[in-house]
Amino acid sequence: MGSNLQINKEIEKYINDNSLKLHPVQREIIKYNENLGEIKKMQISISQCHFLHLIIKIYNPTNILELGTFTGLSTLTMGLAMNKNAFLTAIDKNKDTSNIAKNFFIKAKLEKKINLIVRNANESIKDLIKNKKIYDLIFIDADKENYINYFENSLKLLNKSGLIITDNVLWYGDVVDKNKNDKLTKIIREFNSFVYNDHRVESLILPLGDGLSVCRKI
Ligand SMILES: C[S@@+](CC[C@H](N)C(=O)[O-])C[C@H]1O[C@@H](n2cnc3c(N)ncnc32)[C@H](O)[C@@H]1O
Repeated sequence: MGSNLQINKEIEKYINDNSLKLHPVQREIIKYNENLGEIKKMQISISQCHFLHLIIKIYNPTNILELGTFTGLSTLTMGLAMNKNAFLTAIDKNKDTSNIAKNFFIKAKLEKKINLIVRNANESIKDLIKNKKIYDLIFIDADKENYINYFENSLKLLNKSGLIITDNVLWYGDVVDKNKNDKLTKIIREFNSFVYNDHRVESLILPLGDGLSVCRKI
């Protein structure tokens, strides 16, 4: 079996310093989040930004859906990478962080390409299904307790061969720690095993940031 390199902070910095350059507004969001204390860890990592950028450039989705926007880093990353005819719908229930995110979208001149719906994702996603909306790429990064729910509903909203990308599936590495059996760790393990056994998709887990699950609808 091939062995993988252990990524420490130094290597991570080296990778980030030698990968794609961030847009000034992406950098501004990261700087803003740094002053938020503990909750700053909610944002996606820089390596995940680069991955989302590249996959959108290669795959060229026209309709993107995001569940869980926070202050807008993942949303803006995808918005900046998508083509000029593409559209992104983002959903987050938090009014305050959504207002902050919207200001960043305006700064990046993307406010016409991104619609941020401030609402509970569970309710919102049901409406999208009812209205027969279809997406090429769905990024799941909202409450972990609903991950399986979001995944199931995303499959109903996804084009054939569409992608579902889900964040935090390695949960700080706790998924492999037998001593960690708290509610959220168990939920993430359950999600990973659900996706792995789901024959409607082919999936892989990438060790980027806190772990990204990438699924293609078959
Ligand atoms: C991990 S953060 C998202 C981070 C974001 N993708 C980024 O790159 O900065 C999770 C977000 O999900 C939102 N959220 C949690 N539960 C939700 C729900 N039931 N419906 C909608 N949004 C929810 C929170 O308000 C929070 O902003």
